[in-house]
Formats: sequence, structure tokens, C-alpha cells
Amino acid sequence: MTGLEPVSDALAAGVAPAAAGSHRLWGGRFGAQTAAALEAVNKSIGTDFRLWPHDVELSQAWAMSLAAAGVLSQDDARKIVAGLDAVAAKIAAGAQPDASDEDVHTMVDRLLHDEVGEPASRLHTGRSRNDQVATGTRMWVMKACTTLDQSIRDLQEVLLEQAEALQGDIMPAYTHMQRAQPVLAAHWVLAHFWPLDRDRQRLAQVARSAASLPLGSGAIAGCAFPINRARLQEALGFRQVSENSIDAVADRDFIAEMLFVIALLGAHLSRIAEDFILLGTSEFGFVKFGDTFTTGSSMMPQKRNPDALEIARGSGARFLGDLVALLGTLKGLPSGYNKDLQDDKRALFGAFDAMQLVLPGVAGTIAEITWQRARMREAVSSVMMATDLADYLVDRGVPFRDAHKSVGSVVREAEVTGKELHMLPQAAYTAAHPTFGDDVFEALSPSKSVERRNVDGGTGPDAVRRQLAAARASLPR
Ligand code: ARG
Repeated sequence: MTGLEPVSDALAAGVAPAAAGSHRLWGGRFGAQTAAALEAVNKSIGTDFRLWPHDVELSQAWAMSLAAAGVLSQDDARKIVAGLDAVAAKIAAGAQPDASDEDVHTMVDRLLHDEVGEPASRLHTGRSRNDQVATGTRMWVMKACTTLDQSIRDLQEVLLEQAEALQGDIMPAYTHMQRAQPVLAAHWVLAHFWPLDRDRQRLAQVARSAASLPLGSGAIAGCAFPINRARLQEALGFRQVSENSIDAVADRDFIAEMLFVIALLGAHLSRIAEDFILLGTSEFGFVKFGDTFTTGSSMMPQKRNPDALEIARGSGARFLGDLVALLGTLKGLPSGYNKDLQDDKRALFGAFDAMQLVLPGVAGTIAEITWQRARMREAVSSVMMATDLADYLVDRGVPFRDAHKSVGSVVREAEVTGKELHMLPQAAYTAAHPTFGDDVFEALSPSKSVERRNVDGGTGPDAVRRQLAAARASLPR
């Protein structure tokens, strides 16, 4: 090995090129052996192997369908179903693809032949790998949506617990990365909760999109035998059967939707990551990271690095790439199944696997954060209550535009004299606007500022309590 060998799908699966006469689902019309180079580029077993439980299940349902339609004897159907159970047990116990397995469908078919012999040759009646792979991939996506939903919920649970513990703590909120207004830290944390809630709703829609059954579409024109697709749909847990066989074998919209959800979730995670990385810098110092989700430096003994957050931030790029790769594959494709579509699963599985690593990394890092409450509070400088000063004047009848201008002149004076707003003398305020009384300094209190904002969705303590309850209710146990 030089390290420069090409990594084909076959090599990735640890599979050598097939020998002549090996098990395959096609070949009668060919006079010569397939080129090794074609086999190497054409193979997808290294990617689609994970579809085997679904391929087994849909094949069992298909055998029953053929039997119900009178195409297969009940006896053969029983043998096939039992044989497929044995195949599943073998693969679950570690059976590996062999050289002849072009894809997972070929592998299951080969093992079924080993198991039951002749009846296995009757199973592929009326179906094609085109409707088979579309069906199996949809089944996988439906399951993946449930798994991913749970991983997102685990992160939401962590955010919610942090927020619940921060109901009495004030920190600055930023716009343009400039100190803007004081907020409850609970409110700040929950700002990262709701995008994840929307991701979960989108994910539920992906599962619905995936739940349209292609099986029965054959290669492109539909099955020629009188199978009952409605029964297949029910047996395999789909919500409907596809309406058009040409569309059904080529439709990968559900994968595009899944990759979009993952890409947007990835964008949300990258923002959560960036926020916490920033808050964990010595310059901010609002949070300290724990020991189990940080790494050290090989050179600088003092370092504690939030690697999982940085990987989450960086992974946003690859999720985008996976989405764009699939959209690029779909664009301009002629109708019906084309082999280009085989690449759909590489993007799909790759994105899912990466996300399943990123989510626990982010959740774990945030779960062991310690909040530096005093430091957060100290960062709330009195100039952040400038809006509250303007509101003070509005409460006393001054038009907001005028109030804004007067407070602006106070802020300028503070800046010029190098003082905080609360350090300016009363006279400075009355000079800026005669309506300012000696109670003006109360308007400079961060907790007063927060308490005024109990409007729904605001940072006031009552509003945040309601928000926490809504967040909790969105995560039924
Ligand atoms: N491995 C193929 C895929 O993932 C299965 C479908 C193959 N269909 C065909 N006509 N060769 O798309």
C-alpha cells in the first residue's frame, strides 16, 4: 500500500472485484465478463449495506403480495419469508458482503438463495431494484427522522435545564455584536431552543414526505401482476401509495428535504456553537467549559479547547455541501430511474451520520458548562439602559423621537467625559430634557429594565416563566 490507492465504494466495503459466474441479478444478455473497473465504480454495497433490514422487510411483504395475487404459491411465500428471517439473523450476526454483491439488494438475494434455493428465484417477479431501493431508502428515512428527533430533543433538554437555572440572572444581549440591552440569561439560552423546535417540525414533515410507497412501480411502468398496493402500504407503514410509477422510481424529493432539514439544523448548531465559544473566551468569560467535553493542546499546557463546538460550527459547511450535491444530482436528470441516483445515499447517510455525532457533542459540552453569573452581570453597563431612559420620557408624555434625541445627548456627554450613565450628575439629565426628575436613576437599573418586558416573548421574568412552560410542553416525556 502506498496510501495513494483510489478509494472506490468496493474498497471502502473491503470487497474485491467479482469473479466470473458469481451471484448477480442480471447478465443473461452479455457475452463477456464485466470489467473490473466498471464493477469498482458501479458498486454501492459499501454505502447501501445499512438498508438491509428494510430490504428484508419489504421483500417479505412483496412475497406475501405475490402470493395473495396468485403469482407465488403460499408454500413458496412461506419459505421466502422464513428464509429472509434467517438472512436477517445472519447479517445481524455479522455476515459480510462478498465479492459478487453489487449492492445490498444483490446481497440479500444471494443469501436468500443460499437459504431456500429455487423459491428465491421467484421473489423478484414484478419488481425492480428501482422501486426496491426507493422503498428501502424511504423506510430508512422514516426511521432516521425518529432517531434524529430524539437527538435534537436531547439537546433541547440540556438547553432547557440550563435556562431553568438562569431565571434570576441578567446578561447583556447583543446586536451587531455590540452590547444592546439587558436580558435574563434564561431568555438568551431559550433563543437557541426554538430554532430546534422548528427543525423538529420540519423533520416530522420529512417523515410524511417519505411515507409514499413506490413498491409496485416496477422498473418504470408499474407491476404487471395484480398485487394489492394498499395492503403493501399498510404492511410497511406507509401513509399512501405513489400515484405515478415513472415519478415514483425517480422521486428523491424526500432526501432533498431531509438534507435541507439537516443543513438548516447544522446552521442552527453552528450558531449555538459560535455563541458558546465566544462566551467561553477569556474576553467574555461568561461560561467555563468542563473537563469531559474539552481537549488540551500538545504544546500549550494551559489550553482548554471546546473542540466539539468548533466541529459543530465547521460541520455546517459539509451539511450544506451534502444538500447541494443532491440538488445538483437531481437537476436536469431525465425522467425515470438513472444510475446517478445511486449517489443519493452517500449524501444522505453521510449527513445523518455526521449530525448524529455533532448533536451529542454540542449537548454534552453545554450540559457541563458553568455560568459565571457575576461576570455576566458586570458586563451590563448602564449605557445599555439608554432605551429605558427614553421610555422614561415617553411614560411622561414626551414623543419617542424627541426622547431618543435627548438620551442621545446624555450618552454623548457620558462618552466625552468617560463616565458611565449612572455616574453623570442629575443636572446633566435635566439639561438634556427638563422632564427628567430625580427618579431618573431608577430607570438605569438592569433588573427594572428586564421587569418591564413581560410582554409575550419578552425577557421579563413572568414572560420567561411562560416561555419555559411552553418549551417544557414541547418536549413531552
Ligand atoms: N444500487 C442502486 C441504487 O442505489 C439500486 C438500484 C439499481 N437499479 C438499476 N437499474 N441498476 O440506486
